[in-house]
Amino acid sequence: MIQTNNIIDSFAKDIALGLSDNPKYLSSKYFYNTEGDKLFQKIMAMPEYYLTNAEDEILSKQSNLIRKSFGNQPIDIIELGAGDGSKTKHLLNNLIEHKVEVRYIPSDISPNILEELKSNLSKEIPSLEVIPLTGDYFKSLVELPDCKDRKRVMLYLGANIGNLERKEASNFLRQLQQFLKKGDQIMIGFDLKKNPQTILDAYNDAQGFTAAFNLNLLKRINEELGGNFDTDAFTHWERYNPETGSARSYLVSKRKQSVTIEALETTFTFEPWETIRMELSQKYSQSDIEQLSTSAGYKVVQHFFDSKKYFVDSLWEY
Ligand code: AVI
Repeated sequence: MIQTNNIIDSFAKDIALGLSDNPKYLSSKYFYNTEGDKLFQKIMAMPEYYLTNAEDEILSKQSNLIRKSFGNQPIDIIELGAGDGSKTKHLLNNLIEHKVEVRYIPSDISPNILEELKSNLSKEIPSLEVIPLTGDYFKSLVELPDCKDRKRVMLYLGANIGNLERKEASNFLRQLQQFLKKGDQIMIGFDLKKNPQTILDAYNDAQGFTAAFNLNLLKRINEELGGNFDTDAFTHWERYNPETGSARSYLVSKRKQSVTIEALETTFTFEPWETIRMELSQKYSQSDIEQLSTSAGYKVVQHFFDSKKYFVDSLWEY
């Protein structure tokens, strides 16, 4: 087991577990270092990555309807993984314009992005009270401000839920209930099942940003754990299974090779064409979503679809 000053380094530990398994895997939650954040911004701006525009359309065109389904009472909007909050601004603007008493509580692992978000919002929507929470979701939610007489509406947008296996998604959504009271709501962005080619194109872009996003984790292991991955010796492969709705990315070793990671004091061997399973981007049908809501202990209030029915922001009540 890897220990740094007696504290188990979870990054090192997870990498060791994933590369020792058969088949090998690495968790996409480690994609987001500085370089990974930049690559993800590029992915979101690509025409093939329809998810961003689809959700932006929902939040800009249907903000009246969404606001009405929140009800009239004072609201705390708590956004998990808020990032730069660009899509949420449509909704926040609408709430402020309609004189809803609202506080916005964006939570993100990156303190820099939250600072930027707070400063942008103070210019764009000066009357909005913003209370940023930095850190891991469950740790930061413990610091939520008191919400007596206020309704909590949690947002988990951008199809982030799709990066969890279905069972994990259900457990995660259930765990959020410790921060909700009966009648509070949660709105989740799901990428919907659609023409398999459209999905494959979104994760197999011509410019190679998605490949670079995956390979960047190998670079991160080299930089932070003293690895010697040759990123040219791996190729990115995307697979979509329309039956299960899972889009999965892999890195495939182009040859027999060994990789040493100093911090783990271990050498890992790869057979020619051996895989590392990287990221799940789960796609859902409307009935999958309804099943998930029931299994996690919520009631569906309303689904807000984009005009192509590529994406849905689904509002649930606890
Ligand atoms: C963050 N997450 C919802 C993205 C997705 O679609 O699974 C990450 C991503 N991976 C490749 N492209 C985008």
